[in-house]
Amino acid sequence: MEKYDSRVFKTCLLGEDMIVFCGTAGHKLLFSNENKLVRTWWPSSVGKLFKTCLLMKAGDDAKRMRRMMMMSFLSPNALMKYVERIDMITQQHIATYWEEQIGIAESKEQGELLKWEDIQKMKYTWNVASEVMRLSPPAIGAFREALVDFTYSGYTIPKGWKLHWSTGSTHKDETLFPNPETFDASRFEREGATPYSYVPFGGGPRMCPGYEFERLLILVFIHNMIKRFKWDLLIPDEKFGYDPMLSPSQGLPIRLQPHQCST
Ligand code: HEM
Repeated sequence: MEKYDSRVFKTCLLGEDMIVFCGTAGHKLLFSNENKLVRTWWPSSVGKLFKTCLLMKAGDDAKRMRRMMMMSFLSPNALMKYVERIDMITQQHIATYWEEQIGIAESKEQGELLKWEDIQKMKYTWNVASEVMRLSPPAIGAFREALVDFTYSGYTIPKGWKLHWSTGSTHKDETLFPNPETFDASRFEREGATPYSYVPFGGGPRMCPGYEFERLLILVFIHNMIKRFKWDLLIPDEKFGYDPMLSPSQGLPIRLQPHQCST
């Protein structure tokens, strides 16, 4: 995209004729026309891995499963109850897997667990996490399939063609995010991002249903890291790639230094 600055182009990806949509207009088209012009589509290898998952369902089946998830284990009430549990598991995880390596006695002390209200106060931390996901989106994007022939930006999109939207096509667009390569968590304090521009979790009816749950996991994890440790990267210029999720090429080794009075 950087090379050609094309907002829509055809190519061949994963052995399929594929149209790639870049930018907010493309995201809007794909996110707001589920079951009208497009439906979700994933390569057959993903289908083999996630046979009965929501990811692979379409139409009413998908709506039913999503409603069931959002009303049960991903409902706001369920999320509120998870906070203490996630905090406890994070602390146990750190104690079991990291503590023995760094040999600190302090982290064994029991502290009060986090509550839902504490999570709501972590606005700056969430801005930092959001900026990390803008610069390095964990997911590269997703796919759709054209249900009918339709026209976009003067081009005919044929029925059956596969369509791809990518987080990268808007997250580093300087008209949407000034100084796009600069890490600036405060950009999320100002007015909300332009619709369809900040899309680490996708958008529309197929948006990631795990979004709020993931917010809890990230905030509780960062809280425990900051409370207990200082850290630095052992390989500061380590490369990251997608396989298919963002992953560090060498496992992101870090050096942890426990704070003296961690609880
Ligand atoms: C940082 C973590 C995560 C990121 C960045 C992420 C991102 C995404 C993206 C980009 C999509 C595709 C949306 C689209 O097709 O437009 C997606 C779908 C999905 N995600 Fe996540 N996700 C994360 C964590 C989670 C978690 C924790 C869960 C479960 C609790 C989850 C469950 C799902 C499911 C079931 C779908 C398919 C939804 C559908 O097709 O209707 N994700 N996610």
